[in-house]
Amino acid sequence: MDWESLRGDTTFCAGAEPGPLVVEVGEKIKSIPGWLTTDDCGHFALVLRLQSAFGLRGDLVEIGTYHGRSAAVLAHFLEEGEQLVLCDWFGDAPDGLYPAPPTPAILRRNLAVIRPSLRDDQIELHAGASETLRLSRPVRFAHVDGGHSSAETLADLRRVDERLLSRGVIAVDDYHHRAFPEVTVAADRFLSERPDYHVLADLNRHGAVGRKLYLQKLSSSD
Ligand SMILES: C[S@@+](CC[C@H](N)C(=O)[O-])C[C@H]1O[C@@H](n2cnc3c(N)ncnc32)[C@H](O)[C@@H]1O
Repeated sequence: MDWESLRGDTTFCAGAEPGPLVVEVGEKIKSIPGWLTTDDCGHFALVLRLQSAFGLRGDLVEIGTYHGRSAAVLAHFLEEGEQLVLCDWFGDAPDGLYPAPPTPAILRRNLAVIRPSLRDDQIELHAGASETLRLSRPVRFAHVDGGHSSAETLADLRRVDERLLSRGVIAVDDYHHRAFPEVTVAADRFLSERPDYHVLADLNRHGAVGRKLYLQKLSSSD
């Protein structure tokens, strides 16, 4: 089974016409190394567009960008006045963690594949461990996909929570992935400690082993 191509695939019926999301984003991110799937692209689109339609404005954050495959999708949905905050080790990753570590220049080039008009002042790059990341502005969506230990995942969830707007969403990658059991431990612990969050969606994706868990922060009126 070719898992690499499966990630970038959703088999449409013969004669089905690909829509704008597939043409403008789904097909193009295939050139960017990474793990985001075609299904993820649709899931991100629905959450992010719905937030914008309801007038929720805030930064889009990603911890663990690698070469920018998922960050490029976030870039596509970034609204004027919002920042794309991206954190990764880049060149300083502990040896052998991920092959061909990205550089900020590679990341920026890959963001431009999806959104050539993205300006430098719309991107905040944080090169280093996420434990040194300090978010300073309200956040409406965060993708937590950096360190996969329970300590790192839990700390990243708490870090993002500090700035997450009510009705904001955190997407946790590799939930119930058998190779990363600590991600599940951390997400479950976070949820058990935080009655002000609920599971918006717990989604399998074509070509992925683990699920992506979407946690939404409730508003006091919910
Ligand atoms: C699974 S990859 C991210 C994949 C990307 N989000 C995608 O969907 O294509 C995880 C990334 O997180 C980075 N990373 C791991 N631990 C980290 C930490 N503690 N702080 C910052 N980045 C970290 C790794 O260097 C790697 O680039």
